[in-house]
Amino acid sequence: MLVDSFGRTATDLRVSLTDRCNLRCSYCMPPEGLDWLPRPELLTDDEAVRLVSLGVERLGVREVRYTGGEPLLRRGLPEIVRRTAELRPRPQISLTTNGIGLDRLAAPLADAGLDRVNVSLDTLDPATFKRLAHRDRLDDVLRGLAAARAAGLAPVKINAVLMRGVNDHEAVPLLRFCLEHGYRLRFIEQMPLDAQHGWTRDGMITADEILDRLGAAFSLVPEDPDERGSAPAENFLVDGGPASVGVIGSVTRPFCGACDRVRLTADGQVRNCLFATDESNLRDAMRAGASDDELADRWRAAVRAKRAGHGIDDPSFLQPARPMSAIGG
Ligand code: GTP
Ligand code: 5AD
Ligand code: SF4
Repeated sequence: MLVDSFGRTATDLRVSLTDRCNLRCSYCMPPEGLDWLPRPELLTDDEAVRLVSLGVERLGVREVRYTGGEPLLRRGLPEIVRRTAELRPRPQISLTTNGIGLDRLAAPLADAGLDRVNVSLDTLDPATFKRLAHRDRLDDVLRGLAAARAAGLAPVKINAVLMRGVNDHEAVPLLRFCLEHGYRLRFIEQMPLDAQHGWTRDGMITADEILDRLGAAFSLVPEDPDERGSAPAENFLVDGGPASVGVIGSVTRPFCGACDRVRLTADGQVRNCLFATDESNLRDAMRAGASDDELADRWRAAVRAKRAGHGIDDPSFLQPARPMSAIGG
């Protein structure tokens, strides 16, 4: 098991398969993109599957989420998913994606064993999409969403980050759209994880503000907190249900105390937190011939060192050197 010194157990493994992306969301990276990791530094498909297998078979991982950058850009993804689905006990397998390419890949991924997807969608307006993501790809995302639903990847969740003066007037239209199409919407507070280090507390639309905006158009009733478990989203029944909307208040309503996550970066580093300042290099250990026992020991030690929380409110808070796209959301 992967247990930290506060008694939390990591059972949810988030694996970044690439730091590259075909969008440039401003809360994540600059319009010109970033210096991508050189190919030889990335885990190969076999290396990634070896570490995932170790997590599932020996360290108690029960859910594997593939992320990026944009994980659909990783050519071997369907095969990685298929091999993950063969592990025992079989983990839940999910994907966090921007949706571009899902129109083509949703069905093959579902066949390979993918259980569900979370898709980022911050706006329904093509011009705002272009302004926010610096690419004109809204239609691709909407097609991808429809394909995910058709492929039975249920529930299809949508992640929306609202930014002041950019898309913060779209909370209500986004929820109407999701209710109409049967997608489960979650609004996310923007976190200081952008490569440009441009995050400000004032620019962030808080969970309270999001709920105020939605509350003007819908009746929202909080779901039973006991149902939440370690999930980042607080859920609210909309207009009496059955549909609900989630709010992920990572900054103003932190859920670090219930965190069950551990991350593996595309270059094979264990990160015990989104905001970790240290990483543990499993890739180099593996390439130097480490046994599964040795890798498992290193991994356990990395999780043991996890801090109590992200510390965004501490005066000494430092944004991690790796941006979100290189950590895996
Ligand atoms: P499920 O609830 O299992 O569907 O997944 P998820 O919400 O954890 O996954 P997703 O990749 O869709 O992440 C959505 C958002 O949750 C991210 O943008 C983050 O804002 C937030 N989040 C995910 N993991 C963490 C975490 O470990 N710490 C914090 N503070 N926020 C996280
Ligand atoms: N703050 C909050 N969420 C972010 N995401 C990317 N960068 C940030 C940030 N700085 C979101 C994406 C994606 C999810 C994995 O993380 O929108 O849906
Ligand atoms: Fe790409 Fe996701 Fe970053 Fe947007 S948030 S640029 S979709 S990695």
